[in-house]
Amino acid sequence: MGTARRHPRSLPRPRDLPHHLPPRPTPLLGPLSQTLTALLFALLTVVGVLAMMLIISPLLTLLALISIPLTLAVGTAVAKRSQRLFGDQWRLTGELNAHIEESYSGHELVTVFDREGAFRETFANRNAELKKASHLAQVVSGLIAPLVLFIGNLSYVLLCVVGAFSVISGQLTLGGVVAFVQYSRQYSQPLGTLASMSNLIQSGIASAARVFALLDEPEEDPGSQGRLPVVRPRRITFEHVSFGYDRELTIKDLDLVVEPGRTAAIVGASGAGKTTLMNLLMRFYDVGSGHILVDGTDITSASRDALRSEIGLVPQEPWLFGGTIRDNIAYGRPDATLEQVEQAAQVCGVSHIVNALPQGYDTVVDSADGCLSEGERQLICIARAFIADPAVLILDEATSAVDARTELLLQRATSRLRHGRTCLVIAHRLSTIRDADVIVVLQDGRIVEKGTHTQLLRAGGEYHRLSQYQFHEPSTLPALDPDQRSSR
Ligand SMILES: Nc1ncnc2c1ncn2[C@@H]1O[C@H](COP(=O)(O)OP(=O)(O)OP(=O)(O)O)[C@@H](O)[C@H]1O
Ligand SMILES: [Mg+2]
Repeated sequence: MGTARRHPRSLPRPRDLPHHLPPRPTPLLGPLSQTLTALLFALLTVVGVLAMMLIISPLLTLLALISIPLTLAVGTAVAKRSQRLFGDQWRLTGELNAHIEESYSGHELVTVFDREGAFRETFANRNAELKKASHLAQVVSGLIAPLVLFIGNLSYVLLCVVGAFSVISGQLTLGGVVAFVQYSRQYSQPLGTLASMSNLIQSGIASAARVFALLDEPEEDPGSQGRLPVVRPRRITFEHVSFGYDRELTIKDLDLVVEPGRTAAIVGASGAGKTTLMNLLMRFYDVGSGHILVDGTDITSASRDALRSEIGLVPQEPWLFGGTIRDNIAYGRPDATLEQVEQAAQVCGVSHIVNALPQGYDTVVDSADGCLSEGERQLICIARAFIADPAVLILDEATSAVDARTELLLQRATSRLRHGRTCLVIAHRLSTIRDADVIVVLQDGRIVEKGTHTQLLRAGGEYHRLSQYQFHEPSTLPALDPDQRSSR
């Protein structure tokens, strides 16, 4: 599962994954282990008892066996229906859990926007749906046992009647018939036991189906095992690259060369395809057409591990995992000493923030969540990339606004991080990329402008417009028509 392909539509989003799976393994493992033992026991009993029945009367045995296909047909029909209902039950359980988690993790926003009522209503609706689905699944699967018992009893009556005639006609003794009827009871009993466990089995199968659907997702192709040439810093080339998550192209025939040790900044409106471009370079997705080359080697001809070991990523969302700040910084280089961690923090301007915390580098990030601002988390992510010392750096700048002092710290940290590496910076704050060697303006998956900050400002095109928006010059913003104004 570790290498499962990141497929946009068929897989649940990572944060939804826990809710996609059954809440705990018991519904899957419990019935399986209980049922397997019962099944083995039932098989042995049936074989032994059938042998005894055949010895007493082959004719009565044939009659007793007629009930089996009937039981199977009825059992399968009901089981199919109940499996579908159990599937609904697991799906609704997942949705309800996702809703609970969402309202819990975002409860401040929910309160601020006064959405408690709406959340409570959705919860009540989903809960009611789940209750209905669970009841229905239990009722339908609960039908199997009485139905099997009913068919068993019918065959019992038939045996008694035919047995009585056999005694009258002298074909069998009374003792023989009584013994046969007892045996036939023993032979139908294991079937009844299995049937009574059917709701457990159906629930187990339904929950297993969800797990296996995920496991059956095609794995990421491990690709070629080639290596990239040993050169540093590296040249990155995008050649006629086109790519779409689905049918529509997100990146359209894009050409870009980033010279070794230089910084290319990519700017553009939200959804222009900036992060997508980075996803392609990291091979989270493969290009639809065209090539991406690192020092002249197509990245598809090197293994993903070899490629990714060269690239450092500061992601758009500053992701810190539950652990100490030290572990978080040393993530890209687990053998780093405390001195190295402290040095990275120092260079990236995060050391004074960490030192101000009572437990310093040993502060567990979970509990420090409240005391680390978004900007500080970004700084820690930068220190993490710094300590890993990659040859190529991708910096997907966070969109969240930070105060002027943190902005300055971030600027300093990124320019130190960029030093001596080939960098691709996705900039949302244009102030951070004034000194980039080349700035590329991406619009709707295409490069519409390319040049340095001064050249692009002078050209008075898209970049010029973007920079004016950013510095909030109201005269440059599109005018609102009177209707829009009054609705604000
Ligand atoms: N996993 C995905 N599956 C399907 N579509 C996606 C996926 N990721 C992104 N997209 C779509 O691709 C387009 C480009 O997204 P991308 O994340 O590259 O934009 P961006 O330029 O990084 O935007 P932002 O400035 O908001 O970060 C968007 O329309 C987005 O909805
Ligand atoms: Mg993005």
